[in-house]
Amino acid sequence: MDRPQPISPELLSDLRNLRILNRYSGSYRLIRYFLRRWIDRDDRVRILDLATGSGDIPRLVVEFARKAGGQVEIDAVDLQASTLEIARQLSAGFPEIRYHCADIHHFGDENSYDIVLFSLALHHFSCDQAVALLRRCRSLSRGKVLVADLCRSWFAKLGVDLLKRAGMLLLVLLVLAILRDCRNGQREYRERKRRSNEVHVHAVSQHSTST
Ligand SMILES: C[S@@+](CC[C@H](N)C(=O)[O-])C[C@H]1O[C@@H](n2cnc3c(N)ncnc32)[C@H](O)[C@@H]1O
Repeated sequence: MDRPQPISPELLSDLRNLRILNRYSGSYRLIRYFLRRWIDRDDRVRILDLATGSGDIPRLVVEFARKAGGQVEIDAVDLQASTLEIARQLSAGFPEIRYHCADIHHFGDENSYDIVLFSLALHHFSCDQAVALLRRCRSLSRGKVLVADLCRSWFAKLGVDLLKRAGMLLLVLLVLAILRDCRNGQREYRERKRRSNEVHVHAVSQHSTST
């Protein structure tokens, strides 16, 4: 995900897993918790989402703001063009979000956002870079910064592994269900054909006995 690459099934699957992780690991809950305190009816809020991935966090923010009656304008930044292409496709119907292909070490002007979000990306950087990026978050924001990241543990690793395997298991079950449906369909078709032949033979034999 961190290297330049074309859109591929692997990239699509990695980004989908990340969205699932965000949804079920509590990331969305955490972000909503702060949004409830930060966005009110009739507010106009400028937001920056650093290292946005496929853009599910900005979409979550827009959905929240629409319900709350506030207006948001979001700049979402990522280094990978293909990841952003996927984010843009998923964000049709979200004109509040503008995607930028850029390095988060250099993007944006001081004090130009009300809220800066930086989710699940800090662990991608060295300690020195992480410190510099945290400083950047502070300088880009006029006040509010939300940084969320993974806490590595064997339990979390097990959860992610199970999630990946569950995805694979669902795929296998789906293929088996489709194959079973095809086999049943073929059997039904053969049976119907056999019956219609019988009726035909029966009709023919009745016809021949009556003439
Ligand atoms: C694990 S994803 C996090 C995505 C998203 N924030 C989330 O919470 O799901 C990390 C993202 O950081 C991006 N990234 C890594 N280094 C970057 C950099 N220097 N500038 C911009 N984006 C970067 C990667 O392309 C990747 O999409």
